[in-house]
Amino acid sequence: RTSRGLGLASIAKASSLRIVGGLSSAETGDWPWQASLQYNNIHRCGATLISNTWLVSAAHCFRDMSHPHKWTATFGALLKPPSLKRSIKTIVIHEKYRYPEHDYDIALVKLSKQVEFTSHIHRVCLPEPSETFPYDIYAVITGWGALTNDGPTPNALQEATVKLIDSNTCNKKEVYDGDITPRMLCAGYLEGGVDACQGDSGGPLVTPDSRLMWYLVGIVSWGDECAKPNKPGVYTRESELFIIRIGEYHLRRLYPRPWIFTLLGGLGG
Ligand code: ARG
Repeated sequence: RTSRGLGLASIAKASSLRIVGGLSSAETGDWPWQASLQYNNIHRCGATLISNTWLVSAAHCFRDMSHPHKWTATFGALLKPPSLKRSIKTIVIHEKYRYPEHDYDIALVKLSKQVEFTSHIHRVCLPEPSETFPYDIYAVITGWGALTNDGPTPNALQEATVKLIDSNTCNKKEVYDGDITPRMLCAGYLEGGVDACQGDSGGPLVTPDSRLMWYLVGIVSWGDECAKPNKPGVYTRESELFIIRIGEYHLRRLYPRPWIFTLLGGLGG
């Protein structure tokens, strides 16, 4: 939620090429809300810290693997060795998510034990429900996903700068031909070259405000291969409301009545 010193420098690197086409974050500082979600200790997906105990990620990461006890979350820019590791207590998939569709591709993941925030590990800011981001602004994606389509994966967190693309453009026939729903957001470049890729799913798309506070705008969800022309990355649109709704649904099931939890308060801690 607080600013990171080198953020604007990385935004300014318009030529910033991997994740596919980016940079190793070792060169630029850290992204303190980024987590790796691992199944049997193998990196599967990214996730973003939104409180001391909750991460947000993509629902498709948990397809046939929704059992929390096999999952762990690690923090720190290197997968090996991580700077902190936590087991997972609960996985909450959005109730409207249906594999193999990509709509409502969002999940909340609860850590077994809270993390103490430091300058290197802390939460991101969530946009207000009413907040809309202008198109054409730059945003940053981070992850340990493949460096090329079906290619090798890095040990060090990678980052790249992408541009938000409006949904009308993204729904054009030569792009995704109507597949972009209101829950989705496209980002990248129609000319290709820079994109998230396999293994980046669930990770953050963030943008800074004028005070250099970083906000979660989207969650890496899908794309046609990686970094191809006219096939930008597709992200689950993020808003506090969306997260609160899933949290409420989850908490309501646990505590049917009375409904005493106040929105994020019930998710916090
Ligand atoms: N779905 C892929 C995953 O599970 C990554 C999707 C992002 N792809 C893209 N071209 N932006 O990791």
